[in-house]
Amino acid sequence: MIKISPSVLASDFSKLGEEAVSCEKAGADMLHIDVMDGHFVPNITLGAPIVTSLRKCTSLVFDIHLMICDPMKYIPDFVKAGADIITFHIESDCDVKKTVELIKSAGVKAGISLKPGTPAEEVFPYLEDIDMVLVMTVEPGFGGQSFMEDQLSKICLIRKECSLRGLDTDIQVDGGITDQTAPLVIKAGANVLVAGSFVFKGNKKEAIDSLKKQN
Ligand code: DX5
Ligand code: ZN
Repeated sequence: MIKISPSVLASDFSKLGEEAVSCEKAGADMLHIDVMDGHFVPNITLGAPIVTSLRKCTSLVFDIHLMICDPMKYIPDFVKAGADIITFHIESDCDVKKTVELIKSAGVKAGISLKPGTPAEEVFPYLEDIDMVLVMTVEPGFGGQSFMEDQLSKICLIRKECSLRGLDTDIQVDGGITDQTAPLVIKAGANVLVAGSFVFKGNKKEAIDSLKKQN
């Protein structure tokens, strides 16, 4: 089943709570929350206090995407704030195995994300330990960028490797997802679609329905 995770990066931050509630009503499966530190990526977004506030507004699954240099330092804060899934970047300055363990020991699902330039094979040693792989289909840092079609083969390779190992791992894609690009990523093996601009630019329900219909 395809799951849709609208990215609040494209929402109106002055009414973040209402935006989250409207995503829930529109049929979103989770809420993608982009955390950027201005170092790992050249942009700053939000931190755990905002997630804590948002947690009071919705029961949607909180899908936290950490684009920060030192994930281990901040994971406990996001756990406390109500994260359900925490994804960090394999390229960040961390011990990948220990970071996964830290997330899982808190009873939260763990994901590993790959930037476009990072080969699929880098995540293979951790597949047995994680719940989700996030394949970035844009350079992380900003919403509204164009989908990178050259990432489709990476999605295929990861799905193939998971199947070979008998793993039903979620494969999430993030960046430039629309009703045009969704069929491509689904065909390649992705099952969790993050969409920022596409969901928030118009009618959320129509957008989410159109993404799910691509299945
Ligand atoms: C980019 C973020 C994405 C972003 C996607 O670094 O990780 O989640 O919000 O935005 P769209 O869907 O507009 O490409
Ligand atoms: Zn993201």
